[in-house]
Amino acid sequence: DDDLIVLGIETSCDDTAAAIVKGNGEILSQVIASQAELLARYGGVAPKMAEEAHAQVIDKVVQETMEKANLTERDLSAVAVTIGPGLSLCLRVGVQKARKIAGSSSLPIVGVHHMEAHALVARLVERELQFPFMALLISGGHNLLVLAQDLGQYIQLGTTIDDAIGEAYDKTAKWLGLDLRKSGGPAIEELAREGDPKSIKFSTPMKQHKDCNFSYAGLKTQVRLAIESRNIDTKIPLSSASIQDRSVRADIAASFQRVAVLHLEDKCERAIEWALKIEPSIRHLVVSGGVASNKYVRAQLTAVARKKGLQLVCPPPSLCTDNGVMVAWTGLEHFRIGRFDPPPPADEPEDTM
Ligand code: KG4
Ligand code: ZN
Repeated sequence: DDDLIVLGIETSCDDTAAAIVKGNGEILSQVIASQAELLARYGGVAPKMAEEAHAQVIDKVVQETMEKANLTERDLSAVAVTIGPGLSLCLRVGVQKARKIAGSSSLPIVGVHHMEAHALVARLVERELQFPFMALLISGGHNLLVLAQDLGQYIQLGTTIDDAIGEAYDKTAKWLGLDLRKSGGPAIEELAREGDPKSIKFSTPMKQHKDCNFSYAGLKTQVRLAIESRNIDTKIPLSSASIQDRSVRADIAASFQRVAVLHLEDKCERAIEWALKIEPSIRHLVVSGGVASNKYVRAQLTAVARKKGLQLVCPPPSLCTDNGVMVAWTGLEHFRIGRFDPPPPADEPEDTM
């Protein structure tokens, strides 16, 4: 089992990523090509543009991943690839590449759910992490509270009724005129350190709802109104802004972040209570997905876990944001228990994939 070697390919959103992971959890190589430049230039991802960007680099990314691990395709046990959720045009690029490799080297193929991969990579990081466990998955498109009972067996306790927290970070960063060459989340996290988190009274979403669902659309609106009413010229980049203007922006960033994360804390606490009624043996809270790379998020959820008697497992930032390792690892987990597809035909035409 420890000697299994799986290549993972991830193209669901704006990063083209691949990695090779061994059954014992050793990461043999990983490569990520980001579309940050495109994102900054056009202020968002357009599916067709993202597809072309993936298509341009996918061969190189996979080739580099193989070379870095010093392996050939024949050394692999299987190929894993993200099959959803995500932009279908983008997913296709990864799936076609995976099927091509699997077809030509006669390898089994494992289709991976992107959010499951965000959750399960925690088991690579923390080998003691057993099912059942609780997971909070926070990214640009998803906001999920999940009770993971077993491999492939998940109970969704909460989701967002509109936007995910990462989307709220990204829009807040855009409206504040922050440098979007990094994604919005890290830019807000950095600026928030200079601000007073209690300076603006944003209201916490869904306080009156006795469920575990999220909503970030209302907070986004509150932030937009706060920016509009403060007369700051967000056309001026932060680096050239006056001290006064900079501190207003920092206060907005800090106040937004406090309430955005408070909402996570509230719902996560309730979900843990629910989950413990179903599975009293839960010992761990996994927090993963791009937003989990945020230090403030990690600190606040460490406290939530402790309060509920659980241990927090939060992968390192590079494994929280989209990556190939989580796909390869999730592929390994499924492959081990016999969940995979047979090799595709070697001469499969691309447009039938
Ligand atoms: O998981 P991920 O890489 O891609 C998706 O599956 O969506 O998550 C991307 C999201 C973006 O919204 C990004 O702004 C956010 O994660 N993010 C952060 C941080 N780093 C990335 N949000 C807050 N603080 C961060 N440090
Ligand atoms: Zn993701």
